Amino acid sequence: MILAKPAAIRMSLMIGLWFLLLTPTVAQSIDKEAAPPLYSEPHRPQVHFSPKESWMNDPNGMVYYNGTYHLFYQYYPDSTVWGPMHWGHATSTNLVQWTHRPIALYPDSLGYIFSGSAVVDKQNTSGFGQNGQAPLVAIFTHHDPAGEKAGRNDYQVQSLAYSLDSGRTWTKYAGNPVLKNPGLKDFRDPKVMWYEAGRKWIMAVATYSQILFYSSPDLKNWTKESEFGKDLGAHGGVWECPDLLSFELNGKKEWVLLVNLNPGGPNGGSATQYFVGDFDGKTFTASHSDTRWLDYGPDEYAGVTWSNTGDRKIFLGWMSNWLYGQVVPTARWRSAMTVPRDLSLKQVGNEVYVASQPSKELDVIVSKPLVYENLQVQNRLDLKTKVKEVVAPCRIEMSLDNLASYSLVLSNDAGEELVVGFDKDSNQFYIDRSRAGDTSFHQAFATRSVAPRIATASSMTMTLVIDVSSVELFADGGLSVMTGIFFPSTPYTNQRLQATGNVVIKKLSISRLKSIWKK
Ligand code: FRU
Repeated sequence: MILAKPAAIRMSLMIGLWFLLLTPTVAQSIDKEAAPPLYSEPHRPQVHFSPKESWMNDPNGMVYYNGTYHLFYQYYPDSTVWGPMHWGHATSTNLVQWTHRPIALYPDSLGYIFSGSAVVDKQNTSGFGQNGQAPLVAIFTHHDPAGEKAGRNDYQVQSLAYSLDSGRTWTKYAGNPVLKNPGLKDFRDPKVMWYEAGRKWIMAVATYSQILFYSSPDLKNWTKESEFGKDLGAHGGVWECPDLLSFELNGKKEWVLLVNLNPGGPNGGSATQYFVGDFDGKTFTASHSDTRWLDYGPDEYAGVTWSNTGDRKIFLGWMSNWLYGQVVPTARWRSAMTVPRDLSLKQVGNEVYVASQPSKELDVIVSKPLVYENLQVQNRLDLKTKVKEVVAPCRIEMSLDNLASYSLVLSNDAGEELVVGFDKDSNQFYIDRSRAGDTSFHQAFATRSVAPRIATASSMTMTLVIDVSSVELFADGGLSVMTGIFFPSTPYTNQRLQATGNVVIKKLSISRLKSIWKK
């Protein structure tokens, strides 16, 4: 908070009143006495980040600094549905186990604090640094709800905040906004990177159907460089939360632009698409015209990467969907993040794709695996009879020497089941949650979602990260990825493999994952 204290209190009272009048949120009261202990509630993810309580959406401002990963996130502390946005904050030294920190950014007279990014300004280009200390600078959207209500088209602008104590506390820049609205209703989610070749900052900002690129020498003065995407990719909804990344592949620099889209995802609602191409300091040019998705499942959105991680590109998404995110059946909090994922480029034929794999840091919570080789599955194999009972959270890895239709079915004694697998005829992976538990809260939830197989090899691999209420599927080294959430009435305690005919699983490895929360 940058305002002096009395002014700050006056301001938050005014804003509070204004929110009460303008925001149609339904505050849900939680009986804290009767509630189960924190992080032991039904459906509470055990190996994924979720806030202690209240509403969370996009990951924001992810930056690595001095051995600490910072995760900020869209947060509304007063309810379990979306409302006036703050930046919640958590830190981790291993990307897996998180410590909650005080809220980093509060709404102010310019509006709510929408999504954005953070950078380490190593050369103090912004001048925010003091005594030789490099500042961390957050670049975010100020969203003015009054302007929105009045039907204006300039209510989203880009602003700065900086930290001089390694990300612990943040001061908003007195000269906000640093980038005014050019007359676009949707103008938000700035993602900033240092472009070394041009020694300047590059900002990607999402507008309704395009990404705009701006450049700056100092994070404060921005010049428009180019527009991208009007006639490319998926346009079933609004473009949001971009991210521009560079990789080395076979000695050549390749660029990737992530563009989140809501709605219009491949399985309905929100999803993350990407473009592979070139960036010359001004313009991004895609090298393909087909639409590609970083995660085909229904429940990965607003995903972007950490800054200041060198050659590593570590991605995190919101593990939900705007279609039903605000009505999922959790009481104290709503929604979680995906596991952190390392992005890389993989060539398939003449094309270059982005692959995602769970980050290796997950190993800190992985137990010694139970490993089975050459497992014959004739139609059905109950794992309980084969292996000790392994319940979520767990990681399951499977490899096959050939392509075959097979699935893993998790079920409980209430007859609810989640099916995750591959269908050889359609060449698709799938997550079928149509009978996985409670689907009553939204008519679009009881789905069987599919993802195409991108790889062309004749052997296949599948890694599943299964939590109490989510599954993330990484096939063929992360070329086909899907995330889905589900809400069984009791935990799944039975697991079986299913196959069409006789299928040999060359290797099956099952590991328990230890909860990341101290309870
Ligand atoms: C994406 C998004 C962003 C926006 C934020 C608001 O989920 O709509 O475009 O900044 O959420 O909470």
